[in-house]
Amino acid sequence: MTLATATTDGAPSVRVVLLRGIDERGLTFFTNRTSRKAEELRLNPRAAAVIHWWELGRQARVEGGVEQTSDEESHAYWRTRPRGSQLAAWASRQSQPLSRREELDARVREMATRFDGAEVPLPPFWGGYRIVPARIELWTHRDDRLHDRVHYVREPNGWRAERLFP
Ligand SMILES: Cc1cc2nc3c(=O)[nH]c(=O)nc-3n(C[C@H](O)[C@H](O)[C@H](O)COP(=O)(O)O)c2cc1C
Repeated sequence: MTLATATTDGAPSVRVVLLRGIDERGLTFFTNRTSRKAEELRLNPRAAAVIHWWELGRQARVEGGVEQTSDEESHAYWRTRPRGSQLAAWASRQSQPLSRREELDARVREMATRFDGAEVPLPPFWGGYRIVPARIELWTHRDDRLHDRVHYVREPNGWRAERLFP
């Protein structure tokens, strides 16, 4: 999904992350908690996300507050990651300047040595976030650009649905 965050003064930034879970609580993704997105979320814990399926002619938009996933959830996902991805997570100071590609390769080798013969533990700086939807919009392609848009807004007693002009 494409994930938008913003600074406290409203400057947006956007990037793709893997949508790793979706349930009644919200949408989860995992990342480095010192990255640019994480820093923006720390100061301004709100996000918007969009997913587009070209072949299906569908788009889903979500906006809401963001919370960190529990340690159990982060551990559960971490354990499913390939060892190479785990070492990369330890090696990467995500979003920090990297002077040379070789520095990254050397850090990966260093981590491979450090954890040789052992499970790679969850880094203390890595974990999940959950977007708790306050608004959802489902868009469906229709002919002649007369698309269907249904907008759902969370209210104290449930969700209110309304159609929007395309
Ligand atoms: C298909 C795809 C999937 C990605 N999935 C993730 C992800 O799940 N988590 C993550 O931290 N970065 C992921 N990235 C990298 C991010 O787009 C981004 O480069 C990185 O998270 C740093 O973003 P930031 O500097 O805004 O924090 C993915 C990139 C692509 C193209």
